[in-house]
Amino acid sequence: MTGIPIDVKITEAEERLRTGSCDMVNREIVHQVKMLNQQMLRSLDGLISFKEEILREVTKCRLYTTNYPLLIEHILREAKLYREMIEELEQRGRITAPDQRNLEIFWNQIMMEHAQFIRGLLDPTECDLMDTADGFAKDYCRLLEEAQQQDRKAMNALTARTLQTTKQYQQFKTAGTEGITGCEIRSIILPLLADHVLREANHYLRILEHAQKGRD
Ligand SMILES: [Fe+2]
Repeated sequence: MTGIPIDVKITEAEERLRTGSCDMVNREIVHQVKMLNQQMLRSLDGLISFKEEILREVTKCRLYTTNYPLLIEHILREAKLYREMIEELEQRGRITAPDQRNLEIFWNQIMMEHAQFIRGLLDPTECDLMDTADGFAKDYCRLLEEAQQQDRKAMNALTARTLQTTKQYQQFKTAGTEGITGCEIRSIILPLLADHVLREANHYLRILEHAQKGRD
């Protein structure tokens, strides 16, 4: 619909990915993974500078795009986080368990901004959905502030509340994605963007559930 060519073969190939077993690891595989990580770091560097350039040009009014400047900052933060993870994997050979408080600060902000983008891209007639999106933006704004003020050792109760909110948010995003792809919701939200914000809610749910299990 948008004329943007999407290579679905990548997604199809990803669906076929399976976990390997330890006895499959040999020098050849280690080398291949290292090459893949190096290639990924180069691609990420290119993507990060591309996004930085777009942001710079847009905020100086030399370039026009229908994306919010905040959306460009948002995807820049995500690319940088991903780069940090790959870099750490390369340097240390593993990703150390990140600090739960910092993780929640990062993802609460991402979830809050998603709600703000959804709200701003809905058709003005979709009043109820706008109100719901506004509600989630406020909820995550509060959770974000609380996580920033929270003592690292006293995160349990906050994580439980964040998990509850994120479960409801995931349902809202699922219904939204179905409504957009099924042509039942009026908006200028790209179906791919709807899918993206849903996948990130699923990712955050996994992080929160993992933290909960670790404490039980
Ligand atoms: Fe995102």
